[in-house]
Amino acid sequence: NKRTKIKQLLATGEAGQTVTVMGWVRTFRNNQFIALNDGSTNNNLQVVATLGSFDDALLKRLTTGASVKVTGEIVASVGKGQTLEVKANTIEILGDSDAEKYPLQPKKHSLEFLREKAHLRFRTNTFGSVFRVRHSLAFAVHEFFNRKGFVYLHTPVITASDAEGAGEMFRVTTLPLENLPKTEDGAIDFKEDFFGKSANLTVSGQLEGELGAMAFSDIYTFGPTFRAENSNTTRHLAEFWMIEPEVAFNDLEDNMNLAEEFIKYLIQYVMDHNREDLSFLAQRLAEEEKQLPQDKRSELGLIEKLEFVLNNDFERLTYTEAIEILKESNHNKKKKFQYPVEGWGVDLQSEHERYLVEKHFKKPVILTNYPKEIKAFYMRQNDDGKTVAAMDILAPGIGEIVGGSQREERLDKLEQRMKEMHIPAEELSWYLDTRRFGTVPHAGFGLGFERMVLFVTGMTNIRDVIAFARTPNNCEF
Ligand code: 4AD
Ligand code: MG
Repeated sequence: NKRTKIKQLLATGEAGQTVTVMGWVRTFRNNQFIALNDGSTNNNLQVVATLGSFDDALLKRLTTGASVKVTGEIVASVGKGQTLEVKANTIEILGDSDAEKYPLQPKKHSLEFLREKAHLRFRTNTFGSVFRVRHSLAFAVHEFFNRKGFVYLHTPVITASDAEGAGEMFRVTTLPLENLPKTEDGAIDFKEDFFGKSANLTVSGQLEGELGAMAFSDIYTFGPTFRAENSNTTRHLAEFWMIEPEVAFNDLEDNMNLAEEFIKYLIQYVMDHNREDLSFLAQRLAEEEKQLPQDKRSELGLIEKLEFVLNNDFERLTYTEAIEILKESNHNKKKKFQYPVEGWGVDLQSEHERYLVEKHFKKPVILTNYPKEIKAFYMRQNDDGKTVAAMDILAPGIGEIVGGSQREERLDKLEQRMKEMHIPAEELSWYLDTRRFGTVPHAGFGLGFERMVLFVTGMTNIRDVIAFARTPNNCEF
């Protein structure tokens, strides 16, 4: 059963060839022109059912959404917008689609509406482009690290550790709810719920990744991670995908270089392989922005923005320097923040991050050396006693896209920091072993995959770049 994909056919087909194509009817016009789509491209294939050659009964079934198999001959097209079309010899309906009930009309639907039609939104041009670009980005992730000789390490989804120490874990239990062990005051005792032990869904593969780096030198993870934070924003998911490289012998600067090279590689890959989809998304974004007031529109189009990021170094500065800029801008009334930055030590809000990248530097920014109080226990302590060797990458329109650090490789320093943060050492002794037997300086970071897809596609809501979004009010299928 040889099938030609429509993208391939439109690119390399030749008049006179006989082909079989299969797909879904987008529209059927004048009782003879089928616009057929099989998801390989947004360009529909025009299939011509020559008048008089097919039964009325069959033609009636060529409704929007119906699936068909067509065998026919490629011919040069006289219609506008396409060079080739297929003159059908046989048309077989594989699956009917009741035109009265089909939820999608051949018009523009809102993204919110489509989010509720998960089974059909893939059939729209916008989501076709988004998910083909997402696929390419995933492929490019593996290509980048494979070329560099990294080992792809599969870290567990079910784990006992809270890597980030932020307490945002989904608990995993094997017990029926009514049998969950209770503490003295009647609360559920989660210490014993996974075959008698405590377990949760991973918030990050980093700690396990560090074990890999202590043997393979260079590893990366790429998998789903989970955060039970009840935040309803356009940047947060309860289940998202993260890429986490971890590299032995790297320091913070190596880490920044790797992250910048990685992000640029991903962008370049999509520019090289997904031109058609990017152009479509760029146009979509431009039209969307026409609805916005002048001062809310982007200065650059999507493709120009990506080119700009490729061709310019990311701005690198310390947290302390950033705080000075933010205090200054608030002081000069250049920018009124909802939460004015009063002094050193505060965590940055997304309004601050976005001011730095979008207004002040107008390019991606890498912030380093954050106060230790606002960062995780595993980050390497700097000699000043106040900061850690952290790095966050902030992207225009997104905010934080990468979080990472050089790790604390000195056992005594790490144990002391864990004690200060009330993290029980016995629970992490498997992790501390890496510092006991041949510890080395090392560093790594996590790139939020959906935030990267947002950046590259110009979409604005993170729910629109993942196939099945998991957010506080969204888990129906
Ligand atoms: O900054 P985070 O929490 O860092 C870590 O998890 C480290 N263990 C990474 C490492 O050093 N190996 O998360 C990393 C990135 C963020 O910068 C953000 O892009 C993304 O993951 N992220 C989320 N994306 C979508 N929804 C959420 N709820 C996210 N939380 C973090
Ligand atoms: Mg972070």
